Amino acid sequence: MKDKKYYISTAIAYTSGKPHIGNTYEIVLADAIARFKRLEGYDVYLQTGTDEHGEKIELKAKEASITPQAYVDNVASEIKNIWDIMNTSYDKFVRTTDKHHEEVVQHIFKYMYDKGDIYKDEYKGLYCTPCESFWTESQLVDGKCPDCGREVQEKCEEAYFFKLSKYQKRLEEYLESHPDFIEPASRKNEMINNFLKPGLQDLCVSRTSFSWGIPVDFDPKHVVYVWLDALTNYITNIGYDVDNKTEEFSYKWPADLHLVGKDIIRFHTIYWPCFLMSLDLPLPHKVFGHPWLIMNDGKMSKSKGNIVYADDLVTEFGVDAVRYYFLHEIPFASDGIFSHELLIDKINSDLVNILGNLVNRTISMNYKYFDGIIQNLGQLNDLDNALIASVENLGKVVSQKMDELKVGDAIEEIFNILRKCNKYIDDTTPWVLAKDSQNNERLGTVLHVLLESIRICAVYLQAFMPDTAEKIFTQLNTENKDLASTKEFGHGLKVGETLGEAIHLFDRIDIK
Ligand code: MSP
Repeated sequence: MKDKKYYISTAIAYTSGKPHIGNTYEIVLADAIARFKRLEGYDVYLQTGTDEHGEKIELKAKEASITPQAYVDNVASEIKNIWDIMNTSYDKFVRTTDKHHEEVVQHIFKYMYDKGDIYKDEYKGLYCTPCESFWTESQLVDGKCPDCGREVQEKCEEAYFFKLSKYQKRLEEYLESHPDFIEPASRKNEMINNFLKPGLQDLCVSRTSFSWGIPVDFDPKHVVYVWLDALTNYITNIGYDVDNKTEEFSYKWPADLHLVGKDIIRFHTIYWPCFLMSLDLPLPHKVFGHPWLIMNDGKMSKSKGNIVYADDLVTEFGVDAVRYYFLHEIPFASDGIFSHELLIDKINSDLVNILGNLVNRTISMNYKYFDGIIQNLGQLNDLDNALIASVENLGKVVSQKMDELKVGDAIEEIFNILRKCNKYIDDTTPWVLAKDSQNNERLGTVLHVLLESIRICAVYLQAFMPDTAEKIFTQLNTENKDLASTKEFGHGLKVGETLGEAIHLFDRIDIK
């Protein structure tokens, strides 16, 4: 069974504030991959959650005049709520303030210290609070934090360091012998050229300047660096402890896919592998650094006032329209743009015109000509066979695109079939066939081909737009929703029984 398990994780979101559509995009992407793997028969485990420690959060709580714990409790529940609004099927929502996680992080820190991989020294450097990162002068860009572009402060503190340098060679060898470990490839080259080649410097893994963190238990004025705390969430929540590796852990680890944004790939492909090597654990199979969702006037930011929240979009446009936009419009390797106009445009052009109309026309015609009764699949001609051949090939192409994590392309393949179905209606002209009762068998066949093609598309759509797929199945009056049912065209519908009621899947939106 182990070869059929699939452990996928998202980055855990900071509980510094309500997540915008950019952060929300990631859980939707992870959910689509997880749902597709489940369709393929994998025993999927999708883990997500929140990253709740650090100076930034301590400061935010102070501003709000509440305790950090009260602050993170509020935001974590807001984040979970948005993940639920997006209909994401996570198996576990983890929090780094969870007692068990905190204890295991303390054990990990001690283990690394006893092993000599963590040592005490003094840190002098330039610190970026929002990113919780120390930088050297040469790493700054225009004197500012290279990650977020904000001011950095000079800091000097007694600190513990992790010997990244010790694992440099092993990591280099690993990246070389596992060319698919980091994707897309452009990100791998960035990691090798910008971080590994210049040489890894030991990493400061404790802080004394604030207290909202996991205390180092043998030296409690230190708290554990938030990234060491956060990265270990991937193991502490599946039954790992330094001297107790449970069966669950042996089954689930290593993770099959860590899905993270392009900005934090360094933490996942350099620090995290070195931490795992220190713990003598295998590395995850793959880290995918997805591109960003940006606004048409650039990055979302409070100062620009261009922040958009997913729950607002869902209230206005419905969950599957938003999911469709996120999943279809953000390419594999370059940023995707969001604007209300683009979203509305896609709803009208793809969801209403291509998908909604096709389903509605087909079901309505079947009612008009056959009282809704599903007809036999009769003799097939070249037009039918051409469409059926592409429908039968769909599973292969969608699976291949999903294996490559090209989710937008996978959806596009489904929509290409839907376009072909629309063209098939134009080519077969059912309304002309309906004029002569001698054509009844032919007309029934045409409608059957359409209904079955729609059903098979809906099987795949379950991963991306689960509610919409369900509404299609209800209209088709079928329970055949699994991949096995797509293998042989023409066996998924209940011939002689009546379809469900025809409904509009999506409403056209007036851009004004
Ligand atoms: N807490 C860290 C992750 C720790 S993982 C051990 C963090 N949190 S975050 O809240 O800032 O970001 C969460 C995820 O959202 C990250 O993968 C980040 O790259 C992603 N995104 C943040 N803004 C984004 C967009 N505008 N678009 C797409 N993803 C974005 O980083």
